[in-house]
Amino acid sequence: MSLSRRSFLVKASASALAAASPARLVAAAADAGLFEARAARVQLAPPGYPETEVWTVGGTMPGAMLKVTQGGRVTRRLRNALPQPTSIHWHGMRIANAMDGVPGLTQATVASGAEFLYDFVAPDAGTYWYHAHNRSVEQVARGLYGALIVEEAEAPEVDRDEALILDDWRLDPATGQIAADFEAPHDRSHAGRIGNFVTTNGRYDLSLPVRTNERLRIRLINASNARIFVLALSGLDGWTVALDGMPLAEPEPVAEPIVLGPGQRADLIVDVTAAEGETAHLVRVEDGKGLAQVAFPVTGAAGGAGRPAPAALPPNLRMEVGGLDDALTARLNMSGGAMGRLDAAVLEGERRSFAQLVDANQFWAFNGAVGMTGTPLLEASRGQTVRLTIVNDTVFPHAMHLHGMHFREAAGDGSLGPLRDTALMLRGETRDIAFVADNPGDWLLHCHMLSHAASGMMTWLRVTA
Ligand code: C2O
Ligand code: CU
Repeated sequence: MSLSRRSFLVKASASALAAASPARLVAAAADAGLFEARAARVQLAPPGYPETEVWTVGGTMPGAMLKVTQGGRVTRRLRNALPQPTSIHWHGMRIANAMDGVPGLTQATVASGAEFLYDFVAPDAGTYWYHAHNRSVEQVARGLYGALIVEEAEAPEVDRDEALILDDWRLDPATGQIAADFEAPHDRSHAGRIGNFVTTNGRYDLSLPVRTNERLRIRLINASNARIFVLALSGLDGWTVALDGMPLAEPEPVAEPIVLGPGQRADLIVDVTAAEGETAHLVRVEDGKGLAQVAFPVTGAAGGAGRPAPAALPPNLRMEVGGLDDALTARLNMSGGAMGRLDAAVLEGERRSFAQLVDANQFWAFNGAVGMTGTPLLEASRGQTVRLTIVNDTVFPHAMHLHGMHFREAAGDGSLGPLRDTALMLRGETRDIAFVADNPGDWLLHCHMLSHAASGMMTWLRVTA
């Protein structure tokens, strides 16, 4: 393929018109299930700035959306057309361990030019996402992610269903390119890699026209490396109906701002209350100010005013966490970071002083160990209930994500919180999570602030068959 034709294709793929081009349709038919990770140029920054090179699945930003009905099968042939080895993790999916996409734990990395077949059945309805799990701190920051929507066999009645992927990017304002400082010690040792440019579905000015009284399902996904989104509604009346994919027992009216840590999702059902000519907003609260995250200009009115509150989503299977009284208990002490009290920790089997850890660009420890260890944090037999006390002995928040199984937070009074896969732990907090170890294999447990995961906050546990 000549260079000029190639650059034409790259350009064309960034435009919405490309989807209609016959050449692309033919290619798609011949390559059903192809999941190509590759670079693409997209207009991320406002007009006048150069296009930004991003890494995506399929050449669009965000990457190809996967939609499947609950119980359906997902078969995707990852082809790595990136200059680095990669892998794909299906965040929040309770699937077989071999499909979990973790290099060194569940599979080997997929080299440049190589392929890997992901093939699994989607057990749970809800809002999930996929993202690179090799050098995530770089590859996710470059955009290698997308939405994975598992539809209920009987979906709730809404007029529209919108998946909104929130991200922040660190762009060089001069070139419009993603800053390549992925190893920056300051990000690693502090709050993580926070960007300077916030988008929804790859757009800084996403605007979705709506009509008064329309009912929307909004699927919020936080794909950023480290930013905690605090979100509110304006001109919209809504309920939270699911967290991290899993339906809540009862829809909860959105009264307080919604806090979404990296990796977390929230499904809302909202009614448009703004009048024709007004603009409703998903508002991002930052430093006490409200900023427009997504605009919903109201272009007319729909029927259906005064609808009753939505019903709960149909529950997924295996949502109960019982057996807490004879649970296997374990403790995870998180330490390190700037202004932390970590004097020394074990890195690659050797005890190192904090100064030596800094030299290795490593800053955090779980139970005194930096990064992956030879033995798991805990070993549970299949079906056993696990109660894990997590102590955030640092001055930063962390988004703790468990692979392969969802957990509930267990409060001191014995009550259980919603079923989630990622817990946002504020500084100094101690919280217990409880889960049924019903998915055999080796599973990661790590901070989803990806600079933290890359500098020590990563461990694993084993569920024996
Ligand atoms: Cu969303 Cu281990 O990751
Ligand atoms: Cu963290």
